[in-house]
Amino acid sequence: MSAIAMIEIRKFPTTRLLALCLSAWVGVAGANGAAVSAPTAERIGDGMVAFLPSGMSSYPTSLALSQPPTMLGPAPAGWRLQPHYTQKNGHTIVTVDVPADADLYGTGEVTGPLRRNGQCVALWNTDNPAYQRDHGRRLYQSHPWVLGVRADGSAFGVLFDSTWRATLCTAKRIVFDSQGPAMPVIVIDRPSPQAVVQGLATLTGTMPLPPRWALGYQQSRWSYTPDTRVVQIADEFRQRKIPADAIWMDIDYMDGFRVFTFDPKTFPDPRRLNDDLHARGFHSVWMIDPGVKADPDYPVYASGTAQDVWLQNAKGATFHGEVWPGMVAFPDFTRPATRRWWSALYKDFIAQGVDGVWNDMNEPSVFNVPSYTAPEDARHRGGGDLVPGPHLQYHNVYGMLMVRATREGIQAARPQLRPFVLTRANFMGGQRYAATWTGDNASDWKYLKWSIPMSINLGLSGQPFSGPDIGGFGGDATPALWANWIAVGAFYPFARGHAIKDSNDKEPWAFGASVENTARIAIERRYRLLPYLYTVFREASLDGLPVMRPVFFADPKDRRLRGEERAFLLGSDVLVVPRWSGEGTLPAGIWRDASLVEGDAADPLQPALKVRGGAIVPLGRVVQHTGENSLDPLTLLVSLDARGQAQGELYEDAGDGYGYRQGDYRLTRYRALRQGDTLTVSVENTEGHLAIPRRTIRVQVLTDQGVATGEGAEEHLTLPLPPQH
Ligand code: GLC
Repeated sequence: MSAIAMIEIRKFPTTRLLALCLSAWVGVAGANGAAVSAPTAERIGDGMVAFLPSGMSSYPTSLALSQPPTMLGPAPAGWRLQPHYTQKNGHTIVTVDVPADADLYGTGEVTGPLRRNGQCVALWNTDNPAYQRDHGRRLYQSHPWVLGVRADGSAFGVLFDSTWRATLCTAKRIVFDSQGPAMPVIVIDRPSPQAVVQGLATLTGTMPLPPRWALGYQQSRWSYTPDTRVVQIADEFRQRKIPADAIWMDIDYMDGFRVFTFDPKTFPDPRRLNDDLHARGFHSVWMIDPGVKADPDYPVYASGTAQDVWLQNAKGATFHGEVWPGMVAFPDFTRPATRRWWSALYKDFIAQGVDGVWNDMNEPSVFNVPSYTAPEDARHRGGGDLVPGPHLQYHNVYGMLMVRATREGIQAARPQLRPFVLTRANFMGGQRYAATWTGDNASDWKYLKWSIPMSINLGLSGQPFSGPDIGGFGGDATPALWANWIAVGAFYPFARGHAIKDSNDKEPWAFGASVENTARIAIERRYRLLPYLYTVFREASLDGLPVMRPVFFADPKDRRLRGEERAFLLGSDVLVVPRWSGEGTLPAGIWRDASLVEGDAADPLQPALKVRGGAIVPLGRVVQHTGENSLDPLTLLVSLDARGQAQGELYEDAGDGYGYRQGDYRLTRYRALRQGDTLTVSVENTEGHLAIPRRTIRVQVLTDQGVATGEGAEEHLTLPLPPQH
């Protein structure tokens, strides 16, 4: 949005939102609402029950779920958590009583605290500049899902399987107030929050393993133009030795904001630009919005019209709304024919050497209308599994259906590589198609602090690959804010700096030598950790556990940790503790401080990185981009537990493509054992048949007496340790 729009404050219906939640509670108390007869309950997996409202004989088509659930018979006897359905004023209100001592999480992309007790969100994807509309209670994505953790550390999750506009309040009871018909509700009840999130992943699917370059640092702004400026930015990173993997092209590369075109003056030869970036070890990501300029001479609009792909207004004519190019038409992605048409548009685009695609404005955002989007009664025609329905039903999945078609288009255009798609709007289950960033935040401490619980709750809602605009999008960043933000931001799963048009420059070097140094150290730390991070991403792609995890995952029974929202875990073995969080509330047990690059311990802005006692964390060399071999030497950072033991894993593959699916990968499990004053590190076992060239293994052991190091060419080595006191 424009700078002006960024500071606009709209009085949108906060009061209405609270009133809806309150009316829901009244309805449940039986004041006005008509109670609906009890739902049927079917077991659908280990600790998972699906409730179907009365009158629903089988599980309907679901966009949230990756496949229809298998009905396995009646719910287990004594099943504790039950949804109660009420109909009132055309709304379906579902309540679930939760234990009084439960801590609640999830509900997707949210502002405010990590712990969601006493919070309400509106599920209605909204272009929300600086999160000011509706006091930030509705952002760009919708996740009708709540995770609860009981006092004893056991956990539950509730998924309201509906795409319709809704509010979701998480107080003494969970209240889902939907403007649509009664929907299935899935309840998971398992021994730990991790097991609940894994259960969610078996239902809604996991993030496909991204290409390794997408884990590197990425640089964006609205917009780097012309093309020579893009190459300058790339060169600047290399000259200054700040590692980076991708540069992003925002809307100004297009010809008059027409998607799938290039400005003939400023981006005359995109193929060459992409080649130039590739030659420097950069990948390129290019923006594509959904709105197609209503211009009969523009081939994309003409072919869309000829193929009848557009969203319609209530009267059945093409709906036109205003976005960047002026009036546009919006593809109706509920139609299989529209999705095929959209996918096919990527063939020529990708052939220009485009590596990744950034789908934005896909709530969809419409300018200069009070709703900021298409009318609720706009018509989606559906097809295939999807019934025709109003925008009120399909609005929340507009972005998700778009990125599904985008992903399929890229995959078809370049089948040998893994697509990378970033989206602003999405829905429950959307991690199957795209990574996400958290939209138009601003250069202010509030947004830096919110970004951590926001990405954690996204991870607890099934989306592991997220991060905010590092440094803040709107407004000018001060050197201190930008430096603090990159120091922590280097550890978001998705790490990209971005900035609004007309703001000050926000590249790592834009704030002077001291901030540049902090940025270099921060990004170098990320690059050293990449072998570990890639291993954690691979785990997330298999079992759905988040990459960025709440501290309470370290010990779900420790209630002290339940509100910690400044520090966070990367995987299960590395704790990131921002300096501004003081000590944070940290888990009991052994967590040892690690220094990863020269200067990190001395820089007061770098977060503390603590390695769990009992863990081996694989580290690479500092490289300038992920295309360089960082694993010779491979460093094994060992933090022994109280018994003098540690274990850890390293996942390696080609970094792109699908060879890993045929076993072309190597997963190595390392084990370390202290015997007296000697440490032995050995390979416990390996999986996969990727050939690993002979390389140097460096072992760095964190002990209470200091750091001990050793080196060898074999993956079995012994080294002396400092004597224990
Ligand atoms: C939207 C996006 C922002 C982008 C801008 C211009 O505001 O959220 O990231 O820079 O549009 O395309």
